[in-house]
Amino acid sequence: MSPEIIFDPYTKLYSEASSLMRSSAVRELMSVIGREDVISFGGGLPFTGALPPEDINDVMRSVMEKGMAEAFQYGETEGRDELKRELAVIMGQEGIDADPEHVLVTTGSQQALDLLARILIDSGDDIIIEGPTYLGALAAFRPAGPHMRTIHLDTEGLPVADLERVLDEWSGPAPKFVYVVPNFHNPAGVTMSPERRERLLEVAEERDLLIIEDNPYGLLRFEGKSVPPMASSGSRHVVYLGTLSKIVSPGIRIGWAYGPPPIIDRLATLKQGADLCSSTLNQMFAEEYIRLGYWEKNLDVLKRVYLSRRNAMLSALEKNFPEGSRWTRPEGGLFIWVTLPEFLDTEKMLPLAINQKVAYVPGTAFYADGTGANQMRLNFSYADEELIAEGIKRLGKVIRKEIELYHSLGLDKG
Ligand SMILES: Cc1ncc(COP(=O)(O)O)c(C=O)c1O
Repeated sequence: MSPEIIFDPYTKLYSEASSLMRSSAVRELMSVIGREDVISFGGGLPFTGALPPEDINDVMRSVMEKGMAEAFQYGETEGRDELKRELAVIMGQEGIDADPEHVLVTTGSQQALDLLARILIDSGDDIIIEGPTYLGALAAFRPAGPHMRTIHLDTEGLPVADLERVLDEWSGPAPKFVYVVPNFHNPAGVTMSPERRERLLEVAEERDLLIIEDNPYGLLRFEGKSVPPMASSGSRHVVYLGTLSKIVSPGIRIGWAYGPPPIIDRLATLKQGADLCSSTLNQMFAEEYIRLGYWEKNLDVLKRVYLSRRNAMLSALEKNFPEGSRWTRPEGGLFIWVTLPEFLDTEKMLPLAINQKVAYVPGTAFYADGTGANQMRLNFSYADEELIAEGIKRLGKVIRKEIELYHSLGLDKG
């Protein structure tokens, strides 16, 4: 609830589903993130400074020439055929041989998560999620009222052996799906190994388990060798989610779902009731932007910028964070995941950090099982190298002070 709402007289009107929602820590942080005096590692904001106005003008001119009347009209719920063909080209870059017919254009991949929750989950159903997981997925799944079973990640992503152990001991109706972010995980920064992807596909086949493969960051690899998405196997057990948010712009709100036709069809029926169609103007912009080749040019710039910013953050962490802290070393994407000494609480520490004009997202926001108190997500795509160095220095000081306080109060001695 927004801090200014103290008493809500409408409570008796609200649905059970809406009562299961929680205001995301990120939403509340946005007011701080927007403050110019705060160095924010909190949001997941991509760098949009690489979009040259002349390229955008060129694309918009082309859209208007193609069909202004069309651009300002409603369109098909499934999305424009021309755009779906371009999205299939993008998936092709990662090794997915996609049939554009089986693509549903959504208003960001966030909408696909919301629609999936609504077609798949009844209250009390079980689903399997990673720990930590994308907090927008938690927000999309929660109102449907599932039991969320968490499998904790390690440096190679989802430990499939742990998942198998959980499934071996399972009693009652099977879980509806397992939700994974295999590339440059948000928030964990880790990438699922090829062996684990293969094994997860086998497990899905053996146990008739649906995989939701959410891949906003796969093309943002700036280091190392790429690993094909599980959807490239053509398995009927995978629903794949993509988005233009991180490779073009989040403001155009274009994402998509690709997968088995009956599921895509059901999602489309539900989308009709949600928003009729995604913005036609934005879809036309996206298809022209991709068709004219600007997206690849932008992607090259983004990868260069992100590699340099990740390096700046890694070296600042090395220099400023105390002994006993560890962090991931992502080969792409936008996030580094930090684990501090166990006695620290990053949620309690956040106001102290904001006092020092630096922000992050506390770890607990990314778990459904209450863990993560000593963890934090740091975004390295938004602030430049100089601000990263300064922000991590400030954060390091806050953490050291907390550790000193802990020791000076004798809390380490019980
Ligand atoms: C893992 C993951 N999935 C989905 C989304 C939603 O992206 P969008 O709705 O902008 O496509 C995000 C955004 O940060 C994300 O990190």
